[in-house]
Amino acid sequence: MKIIRTKDYQHMSRQAANIISAQVILHPDSVLGLATGSSPIGVYEQLIEWYEKGDLDFSRVHTVNLDEYVGLAGDHPQSYRHFMDTHFFSRINICAKNTHIPDGTDDHEDYVCSAYDGLIRSLGGIDLQLLGLGPNGHIGFNEPGEYFMKGTHKVALTEATIQANKRFFASEAEVPRYAYTMGICDIMQADRVVMVVSGASKAAILKEAFFGPVTPHVPASILQLHKDFTLVADEEALGEVVL
Ligand code: F6R
Repeated sequence: MKIIRTKDYQHMSRQAANIISAQVILHPDSVLGLATGSSPIGVYEQLIEWYEKGDLDFSRVHTVNLDEYVGLAGDHPQSYRHFMDTHFFSRINICAKNTHIPDGTDDHEDYVCSAYDGLIRSLGGIDLQLLGLGPNGHIGFNEPGEYFMKGTHKVALTEATIQANKRFFASEAEVPRYAYTMGICDIMQADRVVMVVSGASKAAILKEAFFGPVTPHVPASILQLHKDFTLVADEEALGEVVL
């Protein structure tokens, strides 16, 4: 595990964007695994800036997102498809057909999940996976539990996740209770994993995940075993660890 300590959110975003842009420049046909949420927005902003300057070309890139709420259509303002289109895809030269997110409106759970795993395989796997860290240690929507879930699956969101995500909805009742998420195997099989973490509110869970035991009760802890994992975190997020 490599740790890049940054002074703040902006610096964190730039450092992570550097890693992703190097990937895209060296391998223009890369498969990027992408995340939503507050943490990666600055990374996307930085990549867009470099794209607009002419330094990056996404025309041959494919993307697979980690997760999607069950029940939300792609045009729902809180769907992860809408998030990605708005914050990233519509602002770079990626082909829409090369961007993949589980279909939250399809309730054929087994089909959606096995098709998504099949899709990742058919793309040759993920070259670089970008992650955020959930307040309870989740990655994607792999919530704390008794064991690690391997492949894409439908998950019941925990109370902690519902509370954390209600800020994006008009009321708590509107937060979907289920999501489709890539599994731990999908994430661990990525050639490279980069996680961005910012702010004091993540300090305790960051310490637990990366300086405590590997356990499904803190799903992100499994990344300690990844062959090429880079944690890009700001000073506040690293506030409880001594480096
Ligand atoms: C989003 C995702 C989640 C978030 C996590 C952190 O696609 O998979 O695991 O990365 O909940 O969210 P933020 O960045 O909003 O704190």
